[in-house]
Amino acid sequence: MPTSPLEIVRFPDPRLKKVSEPVAEITDEIRALAEEMCQVMYDEPGIGLAAPQVGHALRLFVIDTEWSEEGNDREPQVMINPEFLRREGSLVWEEGCLSVPDYTADVERAAAVTIRAMDLDGKEIIEEAEGLRAVCLQHEYDHLDGILFIDRISRLKRSLYVKKRKKQLAEEAEE
Ligand code: NI
Repeated sequence: MPTSPLEIVRFPDPRLKKVSEPVAEITDEIRALAEEMCQVMYDEPGIGLAAPQVGHALRLFVIDTEWSEEGNDREPQVMINPEFLRREGSLVWEEGCLSVPDYTADVERAAAVTIRAMDLDGKEIIEEAEGLRAVCLQHEYDHLDGILFIDRISRLKRSLYVKKRKKQLAEEAEE
């Protein structure tokens, strides 16, 4: 399996709570970062990854909600400085996150969104999405504002997860 120098930042790392800065210019470093992030997303595997999850406080994420492990159907989309132009309706989806190990929970999100962003060529992207794609866009966008999906579940569920995670980290530290 290919290895990447980027490492996933996991809860409760405080870097996940920071509000990220806009990307000022698309440099070679940004292009390299985006490429490595795609690699990490496919290696993990995941369907989205935001820059703060690999320790970069930048408003950038990568997403590919259609790919399969066997196929040659990888179509990663890099979204730089994204913003929502529309959020409509609501749906509940069971979410997980590479930064929140061993946990999933139902989260309520907008059912349909329109997002505007820039791609790696500096070209404007406007995408309308619904279902899983809309959920994933909102989840990744949240990372740029320092919000995790466990910030959007009930206080009780969240505290149960925090307890479980602390226990897990204590056990890891003992090994
Ligand atoms: Ni996530």
